[in-house]
Amino acid sequence: MTNLGSDPSTLLVRVPEPELMDDDEQARAYAEADFAEPHNHFVQLLKETFPQLPSTGTALDLGCGPGDITLRFARAFPAWSVEGWDASEAMLHYGYQAVAAAGLQDRITLKKVYVPQSDTASFPLIFSNSLLHHLADPMALWTEVKQQSGPETAVFIMDLMRPAKRKTASHFVDLYAQGEPEVLRRDFFNSLLAAYRVNEVKDQLVKAGLGELQVREVSDRHLIVWGQIST
Ligand SMILES: C[S@@+](CC[C@H](N)C(=O)[O-])C[C@H]1O[C@@H](n2cnc3c(N)ncnc32)[C@H](O)[C@@H]1O
Repeated sequence: MTNLGSDPSTLLVRVPEPELMDDDEQARAYAEADFAEPHNHFVQLLKETFPQLPSTGTALDLGCGPGDITLRFARAFPAWSVEGWDASEAMLHYGYQAVAAAGLQDRITLKKVYVPQSDTASFPLIFSNSLLHHLADPMALWTEVKQQSGPETAVFIMDLMRPAKRKTASHFVDLYAQGEPEVLRRDFFNSLLAAYRVNEVKDQLVKAGLGELQVREVSDRHLIVWGQIST
């Protein structure tokens, strides 16, 4: 089967991409990109999905990268703290700078952690953006979500969705990454090809024993997974 989308009746097959974003040029382009629209959408959807979060707590941001969503969450939820985990030094370098520049070191802690690791904890809220499609094994995310959950942990995950056609991925790059550096446009294209579809994520959740979480499309290129864990 080809994954080049040459046969109009053939859905684009997933093409994995490297797990960690640990190249400095790649990390810098990502850290400097303008993700205001999708990242504000992330925080807004999280708020709408969980209107009754506890008034305070420590959230876990899995695959936090340079911390843009971590910071947006911390600003939107001023009584909360956040731990951001990422295994890329290059990404965390930009994250530490951004947290310091925002003066939010008292509420945001970024750590070098490869997911999944073996410790367990009980965070009241776990969120993640655009980690799932990077993982060599998607079960890594769902295993970590389970390991870091306690009774009534709220889970909110957003990721890209793989389009039906390769040319749609190219179109999205032109539409949403216009004028961005070539390395960022390339990564976005590869990420779209590496992303999962709603049905694939539903299958992962059932396999992980997390069938109580729900999945839905929230834009032309994003899906969310959300729900409350009952452990
Ligand atoms: C596309 S970036 C998303 C960053 C951030 N969440 C955001 O939305 O801006 C994906 C991040 O996941 C990290 N990552 C990939 N696989 C990982 C793993 N197994 N453990 C920890 N971090 C991982 C990468 O290094 C990268 O920083």
